[in-house]
Amino acid sequence: MGGALRRGRGRSPDLPLRGGGGLPGRPRGLRRHRPPGRRGGRSALRRRAAATLPRPDRPGPGDVGEGRLRRPELPAGGPGQGRAAPLLGLRRPYRDGRRHRRSHRPALPRRRRRRPRLRILAVRPRGHGGRRRHLARRAGVSPGRPFRLAPFDRAERGQELAELLGLAFNFPPEDAPEWWDRGGDDRLRLLLTPDGRLAGTLLWVPMGHFLGGRAVGCCGVAGVAVAHEFRGRGAATWMMREALREMRAAGFPLSSLYPSTIRLYRKAGYELAGHYYTTTLRLREIEGGSHERRVRPLRGDEMPLVRDLYRRVAVGRHGWLDRDRYLWSRVHRPRLGPAHGFAAEGPDGIEGYLFFVNQKGEGWKSRMVLTDLVAATPEAGRSLLGLLAGNGTMHEDAVLHLPPEDPILQHIPGRTVRSRLEERWMLRVLDPAAAVAARGWPAPLSGRVDLELLDDLFPENAGRWTLEVAAGRGELRRAAAGAAGPVLRLDVRSFAQLYAGYQSAAALAAIGRADGPEETVAAADWLFRGPAPTLPEMF
Ligand SMILES: CC(C)(COP(=O)(O)OP(=O)(O)OC[C@H]1O[C@@H](n2cnc3c(N)ncnc32)[C@H](O)[C@@H]1OP(=O)(O)O)[C@@H](O)C(=O)NCCC(=O)NCCS
Repeated sequence: MGGALRRGRGRSPDLPLRGGGGLPGRPRGLRRHRPPGRRGGRSALRRRAAATLPRPDRPGPGDVGEGRLRRPELPAGGPGQGRAAPLLGLRRPYRDGRRHRRSHRPALPRRRRRRPRLRILAVRPRGHGGRRRHLARRAGVSPGRPFRLAPFDRAERGQELAELLGLAFNFPPEDAPEWWDRGGDDRLRLLLTPDGRLAGTLLWVPMGHFLGGRAVGCCGVAGVAVAHEFRGRGAATWMMREALREMRAAGFPLSSLYPSTIRLYRKAGYELAGHYYTTTLRLREIEGGSHERRVRPLRGDEMPLVRDLYRRVAVGRHGWLDRDRYLWSRVHRPRLGPAHGFAAEGPDGIEGYLFFVNQKGEGWKSRMVLTDLVAATPEAGRSLLGLLAGNGTMHEDAVLHLPPEDPILQHIPGRTVRSRLEERWMLRVLDPAAAVAARGWPAPLSGRVDLELLDDLFPENAGRWTLEVAAGRGELRRAAAGAAGPVLRLDVRSFAQLYAGYQSAAALAAIGRADGPEETVAAADWLFRGPAPTLPEMF
């Protein structure tokens, strides 16, 4: 373990490597200077909690005196419906239906009323316990096992789920069944309270990522939503962590998703790991197109050929998806409407293809929205660009999601290609050993490095591992008991970035998210080196 980590311990609660930060009662928060009269949310609560812990030099809560918990003298007909009520300052109704008047409140010293003992007891560590549990209890949800994940039964829950999704994602509820049909009902999970209320949902997207030239099994996650009345109390966090347990048990080494809020998914061990661009081509300005290959409409029965061609090309694109039927349906039947498919045909069959939807633009011009553009040969690439250029009279531009460095875009000279980073997607390594074994590694490289992983969700992932890479294959095996020597220490989120090639070990070390001797960091850099993964599609 290196000095940087030890030095950093406890400084920042956001960096898991530095561990233990953020728990109430840590002296850290107390030491910090705050101007008198400034009371901040959590820190102030922590300060208050810590301030009441028994300490030898001052009285503890038990020493404050029984008078704090004695039932105060109340006017006849007063609350008397629970000891906590007056201490919490709850405005419970009187038995005779009247409500508290300020003058009827228990005659406790004013200072004591503002900082009642029971509120202090409610301050506990963040996460699944503590305040979340407290809020869950207040919402009538059992704090011990607040929810369960259940399969979807369309007949029983269809209407309810459609309304939840429609409200969460802003679409008409009647569109939901079409979405479920694409994936299949068995991929939906429902978040239910113990008494059967629907609190949330998510969709599994079983697929793979091509990494290092091989497909690694991955369970994509889409359609994460929590009903409004359950938001803000950890329901989504609970649902994600539980779903990840299911996915790991089902044998997926990875999970990935597009986040609408990064914080939520980080709490389940995901980290940013790849890019998604929006690239615009102004059709009149496209040079580099040609008619070397015959470009013609695709026939429905040619989809198996198209899928094969995609796989042949995608396997060499770091990060691209090994698509399932749900993902393919988004290519040829996107939400904008049915896509037009065209093939570029060479002497031996289809060498490239594209799918697009016409979208009305301003005035009489319109835009081509491409859902896929793939070419296995230079001739097919130039010919498909020729098709796009040929639409320049009626269409202003074409929009697609290839990264600017994609080979097919290199056919276009000049400054016609405009790309902007639209989204970043996140990766969760569920099973590091399986993930390492499944991806491809640079064949000319061989080497070995020890890793120490931290993973609060899967203890079976945590601890010391030895990574060995040779002949294009990798193996991650448990280090021998009591193994010592140089090791790269990082948490499972940083490991996701390293594994995918999104961040180098040196970069992670430079920002305090990995720690190890210089030569260990350098060795990991070489083994995991790769382009940052990209995806030309959403899911
Ligand atoms: C996003 C959503 C699922 C969160 O559900 P939730 O049960 O309220 O989430 P949690 O209480 O578990 O929150 C977990 C973390 O996410 C963050 N978060 C939750 N909702 C957020 C929001 N709307 N904006 C920014 N951050 C948010 C919180 O900061 C929280 O972290 P913290 O406790 O450290 O502050 C819910 O608001 C929702 O259904 N939104 C509409 C649909 C949607 O955006 N789905 C996500 C698609 S990827």
